Amino acid sequence: MREQLHLLKEKAEKEILQCTSLNDLNDFRIKYLGKKGELTQILRGMGKLSAEERPLIGQLANEVRDSLESKLQELTEVIKKKELERSLSAEKIDITLPGIRPELGRQHPLSIVIEEIEEIFMGMGFTIEEGPEIELDYYNFEALNIPKDHPAREMQDSFYISPEVLLRTHTSPVQARTMEKMRPQLPVKIIVPGKVYRRDDDATHSPMFHQVEGLLIDKNVRFSDLKGVLLNFARQMFGANQKIRLRPSFFPFTEPSAEVDISCIMCKGAGCRTCGHTGWLEILGSGMVHPRVLEMGGYNPEEVSGFAFGMGVERITMLKYGIDDLRLLFENDVRFLRQF
Ligand code: DAH
Repeated sequence: MREQLHLLKEKAEKEILQCTSLNDLNDFRIKYLGKKGELTQILRGMGKLSAEERPLIGQLANEVRDSLESKLQELTEVIKKKELERSLSAEKIDITLPGIRPELGRQHPLSIVIEEIEEIFMGMGFTIEEGPEIELDYYNFEALNIPKDHPAREMQDSFYISPEVLLRTHTSPVQARTMEKMRPQLPVKIIVPGKVYRRDDDATHSPMFHQVEGLLIDKNVRFSDLKGVLLNFARQMFGANQKIRLRPSFFPFTEPSAEVDISCIMCKGAGCRTCGHTGWLEILGSGMVHPRVLEMGGYNPEEVSGFAFGMGVERITMLKYGIDDLRLLFENDVRFLRQF
């Protein structure tokens, strides 16, 4: 039996060296040290031993078991460590690999231009006002010196909700609303960006579009102030060499009124298809606030004066970016929108 134990130890010590995984080690434990393992099998024969031999063999058997167990223990540690290293290196990331770029949203070209217009006028001390898109006939027309049956109403085909309520056809009603709110404070110095609605729909007209209104009321505001502010705007928006041209025009809420052109940004005034060979592009309507509008707004036209203007954001955006079809701005095709 002594011999058997020695052989078993030798055999087991060789075999344990072949173990390369925790699974192998577990198999090994079952094979040698388990309930039905080889060592246990040998020890079953202990009963046949003499009383003198039994303790000696017992001791030897304990030694063999202890030695195998401690080897098993040692190797388990080694293999665990190796497996940990292996799994760590499998998880290692290559920080030189290019990452997955999150797709960023973009600003719509109209929003870009509205913000740019706001920045320019804020730089001149204007503040931003807003007003409702569903508007009273009173603010959209009457307070702007466009009484019922006035032919100027025909210039702006409107969406009526009821005889007194409509979708605003321009941002000008916010002139009247702001005067009401601020009177008698001076100066009133605002711009009003927003959506407006007209019954129009073709390649150059959309039933919804955007305007930015401007209004300055103070003591001694003159036509030359209007010109200076608009020239400054045109230069910041379209380039330092911009020229502007004011043409006499008519709006019921201003007197005198002017339409304002900028020198053509395509041909620099030489004449091309964009400007219809005139060298000029119309970008806004403007004028000195009509005394009746001041009066209805609660200001005394004998004491104060003002100018106003209104521009179409779509038109300015199309000119600035060379967009030739208005509908591109509303179809929301990402291939178009990604370019801004
Ligand atoms: N409200 C006008 C329109 O929609 C534009 C306009 C013209 C606004 C002259 C003004 C102005 O404030 O003074 O056609």
